[in-house]
Amino acid sequence: MKSLPFLKTISLLSLLLMFSCFKEKKTEYASTEEIPVNREMIAELTAPPHVPAPVGKRKAKKLIVKMEILEAEGEISNGVRYVYWTFGGSVPGSFIRARVGDEIEFHLQNHPDNKLPHNIDLHAVNGPGGGAESSFVAPGHEKVFSFKVLAPGLFVYHCATAPVGMHIANGMYGLILIEPEGGLPPVDKEYYVMQGDFYTAGPNGERGLQAFDMQKAVDEKADYVVFNGSVGALTGDGALTAKVGETVRLFVGNGGPGLVSSFHVIGEIFDKVHVEGGELVNSNVQTTLIPAGGAAMVEFKVDVPGSYVLVDHSIFRAFNKGALGLLNVTGEENEKIYSGEQMDNIYLPEGPGIQKMPTTDEIKESDVPAKSFDEQMKFGKQIYGQTCIACHQAEGQGIANAFPPLANSDYLNADVDRAIEAVLYGLSGEITVNGNKYNSIMTAQMISQEEVANVLTYVYNSWGNNKTVVTTEMVKKVKSKK
Ligand code: CU
Repeated sequence: MKSLPFLKTISLLSLLLMFSCFKEKKTEYASTEEIPVNREMIAELTAPPHVPAPVGKRKAKKLIVKMEILEAEGEISNGVRYVYWTFGGSVPGSFIRARVGDEIEFHLQNHPDNKLPHNIDLHAVNGPGGGAESSFVAPGHEKVFSFKVLAPGLFVYHCATAPVGMHIANGMYGLILIEPEGGLPPVDKEYYVMQGDFYTAGPNGERGLQAFDMQKAVDEKADYVVFNGSVGALTGDGALTAKVGETVRLFVGNGGPGLVSSFHVIGEIFDKVHVEGGELVNSNVQTTLIPAGGAAMVEFKVDVPGSYVLVDHSIFRAFNKGALGLLNVTGEENEKIYSGEQMDNIYLPEGPGIQKMPTTDEIKESDVPAKSFDEQMKFGKQIYGQTCIACHQAEGQGIANAFPPLANSDYLNADVDRAIEAVLYGLSGEITVNGNKYNSIMTAQMISQEEVANVLTYVYNSWGNNKTVVTTEMVKKVKSKK
């Protein structure tokens, strides 16, 4: 008998529970603010170019995000070192994926080995400073704050500790994706790409540890503009991949701090762009503008195999400052969509004169020259990849009837001074290489004397050539004779 009131309580509770279940199934709320959360979950965080699993149909949850700030030295370009400040150990920082209605409990941890205090401003937050005021954290401390996720979209987060520009310039930015109820439509491949501009004490390519240059940052004169924190992060082994017929979604952010991105994929048209990361969807877009502190979701289907190049179409940034990545697509050719090359003729409307370029006298020599044969080979290979590869090709094989081979080249092996002269001053007129005649134009190369030595050492010690080691002194000697 005594248990009766207790039973009554139980049935009342279950009634309430049933009612709340029923209410949850409807999932129609006056506002996203009203969406109840069901249980707790630790957020999966990923380093670029990867993203966490889609939210799918999961209910709103209390989502616990644990983000660790790390200050660490890394390589921004071949031989160029830089001290990055990071969210989660990568630039851009760890990708966060949530859904509308989630309640995010954010733990910002500042590693005890760090030198500076930091904080986080998430553009997905509705509240003062986007969380910055509540998250200001000293080394060796953790700050916790919570926010309700109200709006779907792709949002930037960044450090907002003074000097704000410097914290962002050192790599403190990343993306948080808020999916709508039910999730984004599924695609085959998703990747995380974020542009950033860097300002170093030395000019682009100057090797060694480079300090941040505040004046260049104020003037917005970037030495490096890169995707995912460094030159070449998305090339070679880091290239993105897809198969013919797959749909690809890129979550593209721009951390800035200074520059706006004209994001383009060479050889693709974006089927869909979520403009500025919001709900407006544009179709059949060639290049989309991504503001500093903004983002866009771009989606496209890959139709034919090949290498597709991600660039900031402010094009010197791509080919001279690093804003270049690759999406390698494998699969069946489709000649209806793209034929490939059908004809190759020589066409020289401007006559056979050598094009005039600035001379090597105007180019500064590196303060940190190559110290060994191995370094000469490493730096030489880099120069080759930037300047020679387009005509002479990856393995020095050249292009038949247009550009002579550098591999197994009797022309090179016969006379090293003649080779140095060609790189310094260009070359035109008929020459014979390995029994074949070539009559094309090579322009003078805009590289320093040490770089001439390194690239020729690389060429002479590759592809069956005679292993000559070219020194800067040899280059200077050829110059002095001119
Ligand atoms: Cu910071």
